[in-house]
Amino acid sequence: MAVNSNLTCDVLIVGSGAAGLTVALRLAPHCKVLVLSKARMKESATFYAQGGIAAVFDEADSIESHIEDTLVAGAGICDIKAVSFVAQYARSCVEWLIQQGVMFDTHTDSGGEKRYHLTREGGHSHRRILHAADATGKAVQTTLVEKAFAHPNIRIIEHCQAIDLILSDTEHTPQSVQGVQTLNRDTGKIEIYRAKSVILATGGASRVYQYTTTPDIASGDGIAMAWRAGCRVANLEFNQFHPTALYHPLARNFLLTEALRGEGALLKRPNGTRFMPEIDERAELAPRDIVTRAIDSEMKRLSADCMYLDISHKSPEFILQHFPNIYQKLMELGIDLTKEAIPIVPAAHYTCGGVVVDERGRTDIDRLYAIGEVSYTGLHGANRMASNSLLECLVYGWSAAEDILKNLSDADSPEPLTTESVALAEYDDNEQAILQHSSNELRILMWNYVGIIRSNLSLANALRRIQLLQLEVVAHCQRFRPSSQLLGLRDQIQVAELIVRCAMQRKESRGLHYSLDYPPSAISTAMTDTGPSILTPTAQRR
Ligand code: FAD
Ligand code: SIN
Repeated sequence: MAVNSNLTCDVLIVGSGAAGLTVALRLAPHCKVLVLSKARMKESATFYAQGGIAAVFDEADSIESHIEDTLVAGAGICDIKAVSFVAQYARSCVEWLIQQGVMFDTHTDSGGEKRYHLTREGGHSHRRILHAADATGKAVQTTLVEKAFAHPNIRIIEHCQAIDLILSDTEHTPQSVQGVQTLNRDTGKIEIYRAKSVILATGGASRVYQYTTTPDIASGDGIAMAWRAGCRVANLEFNQFHPTALYHPLARNFLLTEALRGEGALLKRPNGTRFMPEIDERAELAPRDIVTRAIDSEMKRLSADCMYLDISHKSPEFILQHFPNIYQKLMELGIDLTKEAIPIVPAAHYTCGGVVVDERGRTDIDRLYAIGEVSYTGLHGANRMASNSLLECLVYGWSAAEDILKNLSDADSPEPLTTESVALAEYDDNEQAILQHSSNELRILMWNYVGIIRSNLSLANALRRIQLLQLEVVAHCQRFRPSSQLLGLRDQIQVAELIVRCAMQRKESRGLHYSLDYPPSAISTAMTDTGPSILTPTAQRR
C-alpha cells in the first residue's frame, strides 16, 4: 500500500458542499486552506437543493416567529440556544451569500419596489424562503465552487476520499487532530494531509436507506470517522423522510420540492381525493414527519404503490415561472405537471443528528470541527423544518471560521507522521460483487426495519444483521487493498449501527422517530424535553 505523507496546510476541510465552501471562503483571506472532495467539487447534496434558504426578509415576519416555527417542527427537543443563534444570524449569512454572487428570485411589489420573492414550505408560518426558482442548490453550489477555484489561498483536491482522522499521541490530553488519511480515488494511493485544524463538512447519511433523494456521496463518512476518533454523536434516530420523491422507474432520487405544496399543490389518493385535511389542520403544509407518515399510512391502507401530488389547478404560466426545472424533468419522463398529478413516494432525505458540536462547530477533539449536515447542533430537534439546513451550513460555516482564526496563531504545527506500509490482496470481481450485495442488503434492511415506522423488535433484528455485516467488512478490510467502495461500505455500516443504537435509546415516539411500541397517544404527553439521544464512544472503539 503506497503512502504519500505529510502534505501540510493551515486548515483542512473535508467536503465541498455549502458548509465546506462557506468556511473555506470565510477563512481564505487569512490562511491557507485545503479542500478535499470525494467526487467532483460540485457533487454534493447542496447542488440538488430545490426549495431554498430560510431567513427573515419580510417586514411582517420576525426572528421570534422563525424560532417558534423551528421549535414546533422539532417536536419539543430543539436546543433553544442553537435555534435562536441560527435565526438571529440567518439574514446576515444569506446576505453574505448574495455578496458572493448567488442570484435569488426577485419580484416587484405593489409599491414598485424590487424585493426577494419569498416562498413557503411546511412548518413555516410566514413566507420566508429565498430561492433561485426550483434549483436553489445549483445556484449556491456553482457560485461557491467558482469562488473557491478562483481564490489563491484555496487548494482543491477532487476524487480524494477521507478515510480516517489522525490524532496526536494518547499521552497528549486532550487529544488533538493532526490530519487526515485519504484514498486517492484516481490512483488508489493512500495519502496523508496534515493541518493545524480539520473541519468535517461531509454531509449526511441518507444513502444508508434504500430509497433516498440524496446523491451517492451522502454515505455518512464524516460521522463514522468522528465516531472512530472518539467524538460523541447524537439524535441519529431522526433521519428525515421527505414526503414527495418522484415515483418513476426511470428517475433515480428525484425530489419534488415542498415549495410545490407551499404554492398550492395538493396531495391526493389514486382516486383523486385529498387526505391531509383529515390528519392535520395545516393539511399539506404540516411538518414533514406528519405528511410522510400520512402518505405511508395511506399507501399501506390502500395497498397503493404511490400517492399523487397535484398542482394542475394553477395556471401553466405560474407553474413554469416557479418550477421550470421540475417541469422540464417531468416532461422528459412524459408527465405534464400543468395537466396531471405526479406519482410520489417518501424517501430518506436528511440526517437531523450527527457529530456533537458547540456553537462554534467544535467537536470533542481539539481543533476538529464539524459543520453542516454531518453535525448535531441542536437546531433541528426531532424533525428539521424545511430550508433550515442550508442556513445551518452558512451560520456554522461563519462561526467555525471565526473560532479557527482566533486560535490559528496559537496552534502547534502538526507533528510529523510515520505510517506503515502493509501488503494487501487486490480485489477480484467476485469480491466486488459481494460488496455490492452487502451494500444493497444494508440499505434494504434499514428501509424496512429502521424506516418511517419502527418497533423494538425491528430495531433488535436490524442491529443483529448490521453486526454480521460489520464482521464481514472488517475481515475484508484486513485482507484487501482499500477501495472506495469497501471504505464507503465500512462507514455506511458504522453509521447504520449508530442510527439503530440511537433509536433503541429513545423510548417514545417523537418527530421523525415513530415506534409502534410507544404509540401516538404517548406523543402528546411526551412533549416535555426528553433531550437528545447521545452515544459516547468507548476507548475500544477509538
Ligand atoms: P453536502 O452538500 O452533501 O456536501 C458534502 C461534501 O462532502 C461533498 O463535497 C462530498 O463529496 C464530500 N464528502 C463526503 N464524504 C467524503 C469523504 N469521505 N472524503 C472527502 N469528501 C467527502 N436544504 C435546504 O435548506 N433547502 C433546500 O431546498 C433543500 N433541498 C434539498 C433537496 C435535495 C434533493 C436534498 C438531497 C437535500 C436538500 N436539502 C435542502 C438539504 C441540504 O441540501 C443539505 O443538508 C445541505 O446541502 C448539506 O450541505 P453540506 O455542505 O453539509 O453537505
Ligand atoms: C424541498 O425543496 O422540498 C427540500 C427543502 C429542504 O429539504 O429543506
